[in-house]
Amino acid sequence: MRRTIIRTVLFISAVVFLFASCAERKEYRIGVSQCAEGRWREKVNNEMLAAQHLYEQDVKVTIASAHDDTQLQVKQIDSLGNAGIDLLVVAPNEAEPIAAAIERVRQKGIPVICFDRKVKGDNYTAFIGGSNVEAGHAIGVNVVDVANGIVALKHRPLVLEVTALMSSSPAQERHEGFAKALEGHNELDYVCREGDWSSETTCRIVKEQIESGRLPDIVFCHNDGMATGAYKALVETGTEGKIFIYGIDGMPDEGLDYVQFGHQLASYVYPTGGEEIIRLALNILTGKPYERENKLDGILVVRENVWSIATTTKELMRQ
Ligand code: FRU
Repeated sequence: MRRTIIRTVLFISAVVFLFASCAERKEYRIGVSQCAEGRWREKVNNEMLAAQHLYEQDVKVTIASAHDDTQLQVKQIDSLGNAGIDLLVVAPNEAEPIAAAIERVRQKGIPVICFDRKVKGDNYTAFIGGSNVEAGHAIGVNVVDVANGIVALKHRPLVLEVTALMSSSPAQERHEGFAKALEGHNELDYVCREGDWSSETTCRIVKEQIESGRLPDIVFCHNDGMATGAYKALVETGTEGKIFIYGIDGMPDEGLDYVQFGHQLASYVYPTGGEEIIRLALNILTGKPYERENKLDGILVVRENVWSIATTTKELMRQ
């Protein structure tokens, strides 16, 4: 009889404990509002989804993609905010129009992490991403160096910058860093034309410059996807090998490969940081200390280091 009572008490306390511990295990729901697609977005999305399983907390990441459409992103942010998420992660397609939508989410007491792209004003809980000014500047320093090599060949170089959408913070900042690096270098000519992240627009702009009669010696595109458009323009005008192309992102199967093949002289690994984003989100959600501004390091990719970077990146992605 005594043994039965002990067994019953032990069984009930085990059930209570199990129930209590399940009740305590909260699932943290993180909504992600992505502005666009592409290799770079694919990589950061996969890293965030993988990071759901890295921590002792239960995490559920839901990703909405706005296909470069600001109005669609506003709608997606509002619906994520109404879907009972615990935290919003957002890469604003454009810095200004997204600010009001982020404000509406914060009004509900939901923390907001901006990543990769910034929102106009100061209304966010934390930011994490690469330095776009640094990316543009690193490319610019390399461009000046290559241009001086061309000057030595008694030819005055023309540098063409094709920017991405200038209402997005990465385009503004990549241009800022690049223009800073070229400042005062009167040994070269520098033309800047506004594009829109697409390879089609980039191809059109580069072809217009080539067909204007003055070949650009160097073309800097704000990302490697755009650089494929520049390369297409060279193929279509028969000027391959005459023009050096630069991009940013440094993704496997894209910019890293183009530098390896010699289609691009250089790229810049613009860090994705999907795992760091989720770690920052959980620090905020579990009341742990966190930095408001979190800069991720990038690196210039040139012929001399592209193989080691490609090997490391591919190994990390495999893991
Ligand atoms: C992808 C992308 C990248 C670029 C980043 C800047 O959507 O265009 O190519 O580095 O966004 O926000």
